Amino acid sequence: MPSTFVAKGAKAYEASMGRWSQRLAAPFLDFAGVPSCGRVLDAGCGTGSLTLSLSAYPELEAIEAIDFEEDFAATLRMRTDDPRINAQQGDVCALPYDDQTFDAVYSLLVLHFVSDADRAVQEMRRVSKPGAIAAAAVWSYDGMPSWRLFWDTVRAIEPEASGKGIPTGRRPLTAEDELRQVFENAGFADVAETTLTITMHYAGFDDFWLPKVYGQGTFAAYFDALPKARRDRLLEAMRAVYLGGGSEDGPRGFESVAFAVRGTA
Ligand SMILES: C[S@@+](CC[C@H](N)C(=O)[O-])C[C@H]1O[C@@H](n2cnc3c(N)ncnc32)[C@H](O)[C@@H]1O
Repeated sequence: MPSTFVAKGAKAYEASMGRWSQRLAAPFLDFAGVPSCGRVLDAGCGTGSLTLSLSAYPELEAIEAIDFEEDFAATLRMRTDDPRINAQQGDVCALPYDDQTFDAVYSLLVLHFVSDADRAVQEMRRVSKPGAIAAAAVWSYDGMPSWRLFWDTVRAIEPEASGKGIPTGRRPLTAEDELRQVFENAGFADVAETTLTITMHYAGFDDFWLPKVYGQGTFAAYFDALPKARRDRLLEAMRAVYLGGGSEDGPRGFESVAFAVRGTA
C-alpha cells in the first residue's frame, strides 16, 4: 500500500485539513518559487489547495495534479474550470510522466503519508527537467498542537489502550532535517530547509472537535471503536483541553509549523 493516509471523503478532508493547507499554500510557494513559464506538478494534490494556488499564475502552461484518492482528484476537477489543470488518480511513488517533464514539482503535506518517501522523492527528481524547482512540506510533529492534543490526551487518560490503535510515535520526516536529507539523497542540489507557520483558527470547541471525530484520519477511526462511556470521557477531556482551564467556549488559534525544503534538479 503506497499510502498510509486514512481518507474519509473530500468533504471531511476539507473540514479537517483542506482549510489549513489552503492557508499554507501561499507561504509554501513563496519559499519554493514558481517558474516564469512551463509545466508544474502537484504530487499528492488532495482536494487541490496547492493546485488552485498555482492556477493563479497565468504564465504557467500546464498544471498536473495527482493523488492516491480518486475521490480527491475528482473533487479538484469539480472545483476548477482552468483548462491547464489535469487532475488524476495515481501514486507519487510511480509517477505516470516521462523523465524530465516538469519545470517545477511540488508536494504539500504528503511525504509523511507515503510508505516509501525516498522512492517518491526520487520520482519527483526523475520527472524534473534539469534546473527545475522541487519543493515539499510536511507538518512538524512537535509543531502541530491541535493534532498532538488529541493523542497526548488519549495517552494520558487511556494508558491501557497503548498499542491498540494509538500511534506509537511520530510519522517519518516530521522532525527537523529529515525531509532535507531525503531531498539530498535523491540528488537535488542547493537544498534549503525552512519552517512555515500558520495559525489554525477554530470558532469554538465543536469546530475543533467535530471534524476530528467525524472526519478523516486515524483519530476518528480510534474514537469510533471506543465504547460509549470512554468516548464520553474523552470528549469531556478534550473539551477541557480546548478551553485551556477557562470555562468559556469560543475561538482559539493554534500556531502550527511545517518543515519545508526546496532544491534544484
Ligand atoms: C494531508 S493530505 C495533503 C493533500 C494536499 N496536498 C493538501 O495540501 O491539501 C495528504 C495527501 O497525500 C495523498 N497521498 C498519500 N500517499 C500517496 C501516494 N503514494 N500517492 C499519491 N498520493 C498520496 C493522500 O491521498 C492525501 O490526499
